[in-house]
Amino acid sequence: MGRPYLHQRFPALAETLPHLKLSGRPTPVRELPGLGIWIKDDGAFGAGGWGGNKVRKLEWLIPDAQRRGRRSILTFGGLGTNWGLATALYAREHGLATALALVDQPIDDHVRAQLARLEASGARIHRTHTKARTVAALPWLLARNARGGRPPYLLPAGGSSPVGALGYVEAALEIAAQVEDGLLPEPAHVVVPVGTGGTAAGLALGLQLAGLRTRVVGVVVNDQLRLDGTVLARLARRTAKLLERRGASLSEVRIEASGFDLTRDQIGSGYGHRTEAGARATALAAEQGLPLDPVYTAKAMAGLLALREAGRLGGPVLFVRTDGPR
Ligand SMILES: Cc1ncc(COP(=O)(O)O)c(C=O)c1O
Repeated sequence: MGRPYLHQRFPALAETLPHLKLSGRPTPVRELPGLGIWIKDDGAFGAGGWGGNKVRKLEWLIPDAQRRGRRSILTFGGLGTNWGLATALYAREHGLATALALVDQPIDDHVRAQLARLEASGARIHRTHTKARTVAALPWLLARNARGGRPPYLLPAGGSSPVGALGYVEAALEIAAQVEDGLLPEPAHVVVPVGTGGTAAGLALGLQLAGLRTRVVGVVVNDQLRLDGTVLARLARRTAKLLERRGASLSEVRIEASGFDLTRDQIGSGYGHRTEAGARATALAAEQGLPLDPVYTAKAMAGLLALREAGRLGGPVLFVRTDGPR
């Protein structure tokens, strides 16, 4: 594909909203035989390095940082942050330094391996331990990580700013094109994990833009942030406003908090804690050749299966695998 779907849809955006292609597309969709579940494998999104949903966000965030003349990025996450690692690796390739302020999360082998990768990535790591201490340290973090006389490009955890959410507006347009090509039926529901909200918010906006009636089902996996319909709708609306300010016309779009179906039933003991339901979902998915990670996609698949069992997900369901290859 040449131009991103968003630029094809709104040519004026190409001038004002730069895009950096970090992956081939579309990512593949396939049916899990006999289950009425389709998988969109965003684990395949990325260029041989660290893939998944973060890379879709970085396609818009890195060029935005460059457009603003920034030489570094400051962002946040837990000790095992996938987001921080993807940012460090892709930003480095594009001449930007990364600093990460990391809060504590349960340390297991998965997190230990991730910390080693973070250290090898060249990112400057600040272990701030808690959210409160991160907030208190912010002025110092900004000053410490300035480059070339410019403050760092500040990004919320998970890259879930309006610019970052564009990655999943784009993904929704990609899904619509795949539906049009007959690769899957129009989904009644699309299920994603909700860690910071950018994926779910971007999808909700993009699905409406594409004219699909698909509802977004978010399985909340993070108990450290407020993640409800109001918060996700606000992010989706801010993303819509960004597009309008840059020249797109979105008069048909209506984003309401009630447009998100969210479940908090899979959090278990908290962000990063494994659950039995997640382990069962992982085993089931493995039989279908679908690897899941314990923190996000295992819980999202467990949520899908539980909602399905409860009769709350009728019609074709699309599960987006947001985790990337190692
Ligand atoms: C693998 C994976 N899936 C899902 C998410 C959640 O996406 P979002 O932060 O956009 O809600 C993240 C990051 O937070 C992630 O690393």
